[in-house]
Amino acid sequence: MTMYLRRRATFSAGLSCPLPADPGRGHDYLCELTVGGLIDPLTGMVINIRDVDAVMKARVTGPLGGKLLDTEVAAFQGVLPTPENIARFLWNECRDKFGVHGFLARVILWPTPLLQVALSSLENPHEAPMLTVTRTYDFSASHRLHSLNLSDAENAEIFGKCNWENGHGHNYEFEVTFAGEANPQTGQLLSLDCLDKIVDEVVLKPYDHKHLNCDTVDFHTLNPTSENLTKVIWDNLTSRLISVPLGQARLYRIAVRETARNYFEYYGE
Ligand code: NI
Repeated sequence: MTMYLRRRATFSAGLSCPLPADPGRGHDYLCELTVGGLIDPLTGMVINIRDVDAVMKARVTGPLGGKLLDTEVAAFQGVLPTPENIARFLWNECRDKFGVHGFLARVILWPTPLLQVALSSLENPHEAPMLTVTRTYDFSASHRLHSLNLSDAENAEIFGKCNWENGHGHNYEFEVTFAGEANPQTGQLLSLDCLDKIVDEVVLKPYDHKHLNCDTVDFHTLNPTSENLTKVIWDNLTSRLISVPLGQARLYRIAVRETARNYFEYYGE
């Protein structure tokens, strides 16, 4: 049975020339490697964390830390140092570096806390890793959990204080994940500017600082549970994306964090 362990490291790197889609000149990158493998009965470990740290230092934080990626790192001569390409660099550098017991199962790179690029091959280490890009957004809204298919007494019983007639509020966070292949010309899976505009139009403008039951068409009759909210965001984005040229990218996942303790994920299946 495969065990997975994760280890994180940080490095700061810059660009001598800003990318068209990234006018910032540098980032404090956070990266995470997931190593899968069998527990070694001698040590009780898949791999010594020290060995993971040594790989990260030798292959990632050492070569990239404090560098201007486009001019000082050979791998990015002629390859745009987009987060997608940096994640691919990490994957290529770190795979096959974990001995006979462990294998690289996933690489995650956060150029900012609100953008995550991952390459993962959790199930089968011999398969090409899947590229995903996850963007995090937030909005504040109020709602009342109340189903028109239930009596007032049943609603009060099932939803408790969440059924309070005048509602209550949440600071929602939600994640939009795309999967696919990066465009070789832009080095990106999709344009984040384009995605931000669509999310603003489809989700943030209709929901932010609104009472979901009273102020939105989507939840006028539909109970605004987080399950329904997650699915409605998926459905509305899917409808809007039909007219957007996404290239190799496809909507892969929507996740909603209603509170620090509640998290919902939907993959459209
Ligand atoms: Ni609530």
